[in-house]
Amino acid sequence: MKALVYREFGGADRFELTDIDTPHIGPDTMLVKVVAAGINPVDYKIREGYLEGLIDTALPAVPGWDVAGIVEKPGLDTPEFQEGDAILAYARTDVVRGGTLAEYVAVPVRTATRKPEALSFEDAAAIPLTGLTALQSVERSGLGEGDTVLIHGAAGGVASFAVQLAVRAGARVIGTASPANHDYLRELGAEPVAYGDGLVDAARALVPDGYDVILDFAGGDSLDSTGALRRDGGHVVSIADPRARTDFGGDYVWVRPNPEQLAHLAELAVAGELRVERSATFTLDDAADAYRSLEEGHTRGKIVVRVS
Ligand SMILES: NC(=O)c1ccc[n+]([C@@H]2O[C@H](COP(=O)([O-])OP(=O)(O)OC[C@H]3O[C@@H](n4cnc5c(N)ncnc54)[C@H](OP(=O)(O)O)[C@@H]3O)[C@@H](O)[C@H]2O)c1
Repeated sequence: MKALVYREFGGADRFELTDIDTPHIGPDTMLVKVVAAGINPVDYKIREGYLEGLIDTALPAVPGWDVAGIVEKPGLDTPEFQEGDAILAYARTDVVRGGTLAEYVAVPVRTATRKPEALSFEDAAAIPLTGLTALQSVERSGLGEGDTVLIHGAAGGVASFAVQLAVRAGARVIGTASPANHDYLRELGAEPVAYGDGLVDAARALVPDGYDVILDFAGGDSLDSTGALRRDGGHVVSIADPRARTDFGGDYVWVRPNPEQLAHLAELAVAGELRVERSATFTLDDAADAYRSLEEGHTRGKIVVRVS
């Protein structure tokens, strides 16, 4: 089968599109024909070797954990799904080896849910990792009706969902993004502020009494403003900076596969209650360019790769 492969750690120039063996499936995994795959920053962080020590990689490796596709062959014990079922999954495995940027992938049954007919494969592939991260981060923050929430990196893949989920929960959401994304944030229901110089003054002018919740989906120096902006006892959650826990007494979230939550997100999308923002769609042939685009760090919503 055709797959995007890297044989050693490094930049996007390590990618090659090549033929490799179709993956074996275990008793509780299914062979899935990939229709669309979502790409995420964690894929290139792994490829760069930054996450060695946290996540094992068996080279040569195929990147990608997000998939929407069709069950080609169920496993020995995967009665939840039959051949021909359309699924979406956050198909994370303990060892990175056979990812979703390929014509076929072995999907652990514990990560998959049925794709609603009305949801396109591209939109389905855009939801898993980022949607689950957003949902789990919002839940961990405990935010609710009437809370004021500051979201760092509000226009990205994770945050585009998190903004909407926080608004749905009744929160007032202020989101950071470059000015080019401010109208987009307004469409999602957030009040935009620019990150960088002037952020503290602008964010404080909007919420002088301090934020109840700060959600960090950007990392870097985003949490430096926490002391100036959160109210006493305000909850800090980050997916990109462990200081949320060590310095601010909050939570560092590492997303977990959860098929029930994934089904819920897919249903919200079908109902028109969760916008799936896809800024670009590539083919498997130019998937390396999809990663180059993602690695620029300014994707609005998601980039998806159409495989078949
Ligand atoms: N712990 C976990 O489980 C977990 C899960 C998912 C992701 N992550 C990590 O979380 C981060 C975000 O993931 P993602 O998929 O949302 O990434 P992404 O889609 O690539 O994020 C791109 C967005 O970041 C914004 N941005 C860039 N620099 C910024 C800054 N200094 N301040 C505020 N916004 C900034 C950009 O907005 P502008 O274009 O307007 O600049 C762009 O919209 C990544 O580091 C990823 O590895 C962790």
